[in-house]
Amino acid sequence: MNEQAKKTVLSGIRPTGAAHLGNYVGALRNWVRLQDEYRCFYSIVDWHALSSEYNDSKVIRGYTFEVACDLLSLGLNPERCVLFVQSQIKEHAELHLLLSMITPLPWLERVPTFKEQQQELAEKELNTYGFLGYPLLQTADIIIYKAEVVPVGEDQASHLELAREITRRFNRFYGPVFPEPQMLLTEVPTLAGTDGRKMSKSYGNAIYLKDSEEVIRKKISPMVTDTRRKRRSDPGEPDDCPVFTLHRAFVNKETRDRLAADCRSAKGGCLECKRVVIDSLIRLLTPYWEKRKSYEANPTRVWDILEEGNSRARRAAQKTMEDVRSAIGL
Ligand code: TRP
Ligand code: SF4
Repeated sequence: MNEQAKKTVLSGIRPTGAAHLGNYVGALRNWVRLQDEYRCFYSIVDWHALSSEYNDSKVIRGYTFEVACDLLSLGLNPERCVLFVQSQIKEHAELHLLLSMITPLPWLERVPTFKEQQQELAEKELNTYGFLGYPLLQTADIIIYKAEVVPVGEDQASHLELAREITRRFNRFYGPVFPEPQMLLTEVPTLAGTDGRKMSKSYGNAIYLKDSEEVIRKKISPMVTDTRRKRRSDPGEPDDCPVFTLHRAFVNKETRDRLAADCRSAKGGCLECKRVVIDSLIRLLTPYWEKRKSYEANPTRVWDILEEGNSRARRAAQKTMEDVRSAIGL
């Protein structure tokens, strides 16, 4: 596609550790797909990680490296997208400050994730200035690249709504500097983790992209299935089976439909059913594992790629900030 005609995408991922299958189907897979159709900026948002992990800040840099390895090994191509580290583009902080001047506090206080996350992470002190401003910093991340499209899951809808409101307010006060960013909703299928609950790093039940073939087998083989299938001869219901959430994400429809029918008629057993999804995962992940090995063996290369992305992002952000400063009149 003609480079000029491409719309600009921005999305961000918090560096909180290596990516798991849930992150993959929820976001990362999409990032890879979008990189040709759009002019893509992808940010590893370490300041956002810091807003809740300020107590354990030293681990964030290592996680930034992990996430970069994951993204590059999945096929993000640094020649076709800009992959960068948020904290290295200081202009985000300047824009966040300027936006804070025009942001009424109640707009931030009523963002539902603010209270929800405080409750969910009650052991942390999150009644902080930085945490309240989380969605405003996210707004700065987006509009500093004049992004038109933001691919995110439903959980980010309230942040995008705020970003749009702030953008309109800025443009009304100072003139039309920013396009209003549109949310590109990513369907996020819920995957079960090894204990049958939703897959999540904090539950300790996640299957990581970087897990080896052996680890993947060891995690999936003993997973609980539909409890109706006490014996091989008992029919089951895939809709009530945690393992089958993995089939929906990773096994082609034809095979999946056959396995579902065999489950309902007790024609097939759980062992072979699990083997099919394990094999699909191994097939999907083998090229990723190979690439990841080579990035892990050469960390300088990964940091160099990020540096290059930082330079490109910085140039774009600096350009926008010139518009912003002159619009405000400072
Ligand atoms: N808040 C997002 C999340 O938790 C991460 C994020 C930060 C982001 N800045 C962004 C997403 C900008 C999209 C655009 O997933
Ligand atoms: Fe789940 Fe497959 Fe067993 Fe059915 S056969 S209960 S879908 S693992």
